[in-house]
Amino acid sequence: MFKLLLTAALAVVGVCQNYSPPKNSTNSTYNNPIVNEGADPWMFRHDDYYYLTYSNNVNVTLFRSKSLTDWNGADSKLVFAPPPGMNYSTDLWAPEIHYLNGNWYAIFTADPLNDSPPPEVEMWCEYNCPAVHHRMFVVEGTGSNPWEAVWEYKAELDTYDQFAIDGTYFQHKDQLYHIYSCWHRKYDGWPANLCITKLENPWTVSSPFSERQIISVPEYPWEKTPFGRAGNDRLSSNEGPQQLTNSKTGQQFLIYSAARSDNRNYCLAQLELVGEDPMNPGDWRKHPQPVFYQNPTQKSYGIGHASFTTSPDDSEDWIVYHGMKDPTNGWSARTIRAQKFDWNEDGTPNFPRPGYGPYEVPSGQ
Ligand SMILES: *[C@@H]1O[C@H](CO)[C@@H](O)[C@H](O)[C@H]1NC(C)=O
Ligand SMILES: *[C@@H]1O[C@H](CO)[C@@H](O)[C@H](O)[C@H]1NC(C)=O
Ligand SMILES: *[C@@H]1O[C@H](CO)[C@@H](O)[C@H](O)[C@H]1NC(C)=O
Ligand SMILES: *[C@@H]1O[C@H](CO)[C@@H](O)[C@H](O)[C@H]1NC(C)=O
Repeated sequence: MFKLLLTAALAVVGVCQNYSPPKNSTNSTYNNPIVNEGADPWMFRHDDYYYLTYSNNVNVTLFRSKSLTDWNGADSKLVFAPPPGMNYSTDLWAPEIHYLNGNWYAIFTADPLNDSPPPEVEMWCEYNCPAVHHRMFVVEGTGSNPWEAVWEYKAELDTYDQFAIDGTYFQHKDQLYHIYSCWHRKYDGWPANLCITKLENPWTVSSPFSERQIISVPEYPWEKTPFGRAGNDRLSSNEGPQQLTNSKTGQQFLIYSAARSDNRNYCLAQLELVGEDPMNPGDWRKHPQPVFYQNPTQKSYGIGHASFTTSPDDSEDWIVYHGMKDPTNGWSARTIRAQKFDWNEDGTPNFPRPGYGPYEVPSGQ
């Protein structure tokens, strides 16, 4: 085992010899990372500002900047800090903030006990399952401006008292859906799949459990960890789903993260809605390869958990994601990055290779 690791480390050192650190940005260029430490970034643009939130484990904090790529000294505002002793008091992960029906909705993952379920719960899991009590929660911000909104805890988003993380809203033909990372059964532990349910409003699920659908499971070797070991469920995940719409063709994609978030193989993958019904697993088509993944020549590893926004003049699409700056320090190596991306002729997104730049700043910035 040790020998294997050492060989892998040497291989990486070899690859990295060509790497030179980025030159400092000018006002027409920027460098990654845009935030030096952080994971699960969620960015959106509203009026004259970009807004950013990301996992900090203890609360939901919103940052605001005039610039997509410059977050030094950005204003920050507390959206929600949970009271102690609730099912959502600890381990707040992957917050997202959506504008729906005239109000703002912060949706996030949390658990009651710092990921330490009592042994009498743990014992039911096939593998260890620290996240067995993670669920999805919604906080509502009333008003049309996210900075001025008054935020209040609204509800747990029903996932049938089963594991749920990284939930997002998906909209299609006036119907709202909840798509989140789920297990097949309550105590599975692994693999993590993508589940979908129908919503009546941003905090109320209308599907009974019998209608919950699993639209993606880790099936390819690159969705499983360790990479390439066939028939391996443990550490194999589909998570971090995000809706991405091609505004020219109307094609709907779900970009999600696959494999395992604490190592180099974490990557972004793609489902396309090729039928009419997001609740029908057969209406989704998975791309057979990852679409955005590690780039060791630029020290970019463990690429995942993206969100999408546009340049200030609306002419460019941008991906905001996290990556590990080294392959060995796991979650603590994650930083937040942003890059422009284009579209292929068939209407699918055409992501660049992840890196540090310098890159041109967003058009209109
Ligand atoms: C880039 O900026 C940093 C911090 O301001 C400075 O220490 C460094 O020398 C600069 N590097 C170059 C290549 O100008
Ligand atoms: C960027 O713009 C600011 C404000 O206009 C200016 O003070 C600064 O010198 C510029 N920096 C560079 C590297 O051009
Ligand atoms: C929210 O959590 C962050 C990270 O722990 C902390 O730095 C910040 O002070 C908290 N905000 C408030 C208002 O408590
Ligand atoms: C808290 O979580 C437990 C375990 O999932 C559940 O049984 C209980 O009903 C939850 N409490 C509330 C108030 O929702």
